Amino acid sequence: MNYRQKKSRVLISLLLCISVIPMFFNPSWNLSVYSFGPWKSSFCSCLKCIRDGDPRFREQIDASPEPFLPRKHSISENDFLWWKKIKQEKYDFAFFNATVDKVFEMLPIISEDVEPRPDRCRICAIVGNSGNLNGSRYGPLIDLHDFVIRMNYGPTRGFEVDVGTKTTHRVMYPETASLLDHTTHLVFFPFKMEDFLWLIENVGSDLNKQSLANKNLVMILNPAFMKHVHQVWLQKKGAYPSTGFMTLAFSLMICDEVSVFGFGADSDGNWGHYFEKIKVQNFGTGYHPGKYEYNLIQQLQKIQKITLYKGH
Ligand code: C5P
Repeated sequence: MNYRQKKSRVLISLLLCISVIPMFFNPSWNLSVYSFGPWKSSFCSCLKCIRDGDPRFREQIDASPEPFLPRKHSISENDFLWWKKIKQEKYDFAFFNATVDKVFEMLPIISEDVEPRPDRCRICAIVGNSGNLNGSRYGPLIDLHDFVIRMNYGPTRGFEVDVGTKTTHRVMYPETASLLDHTTHLVFFPFKMEDFLWLIENVGSDLNKQSLANKNLVMILNPAFMKHVHQVWLQKKGAYPSTGFMTLAFSLMICDEVSVFGFGADSDGNWGHYFEKIKVQNFGTGYHPGKYEYNLIQQLQKIQKITLYKGH
């Protein structure tokens, strides 16, 4: 071996060392063929990020419409026509746009960043209202999450041991509204035109009325996103997705890790609430495709995109 050959061997070995050794010290390195290699930085700084791994899953998430209505960016007429059917809305697209403009004039509607960041590890708990939370003792675990997203009435007082005390976001719509404290984000789900007017009156109004939520912390679920979840995730099953499933879907976009609590039936097969006594046995899930949604949630658990806590 001459001097030049020796020199190039040393160079190649050096390059190999530089590229292979860091693989063993990279906490986000996993064996997925898609994320293999020291040149791949993880999508977030958690041990496991939702967007890591199978690129088809990532592409599906990235192809989704914005989960929250962006300022001055309304939806397409097609999306509106789908949304309009939920409650047989009589108003037209022009009225919808004018109403949404008014909401944005009255309220500083905010959004949540859907772009992951390599230096961020945002771990979220989404807490559904299933009776399987009773006796679960999940409270302290739920409170450890960065975001704790609750839904509708789902109370904490009196149920702290099982559901925790922290609420960073509450998903609600007029029929399920309650008074929120000053630090909780209102994630507003509009199902009909009146709901936007309700939002202006109950949160955006300066009249002598107590605001139901901090007007600086309001986010509105995008009707185009609702349609996407119904058509792509749920393959058009049921009339439209449940509040819980839409919450799970937007959480996959804004969080780096998601833990799911309070979904599905309890151990007797009832689809009741943790805060209500079951008077009549209830095995149905209404006009939402509850069982289909629950199967999908189980599949997401299987491919390790979420952690599902099944309760009691
Ligand atoms: O009943 P409610 O709509 O307030 O519950 C919030 C969400 O919790 C539901 O939309 C559903 O996704 C989930 N849930 C569930 N199983 C139950 C009760 C509620 O999966 N037994």
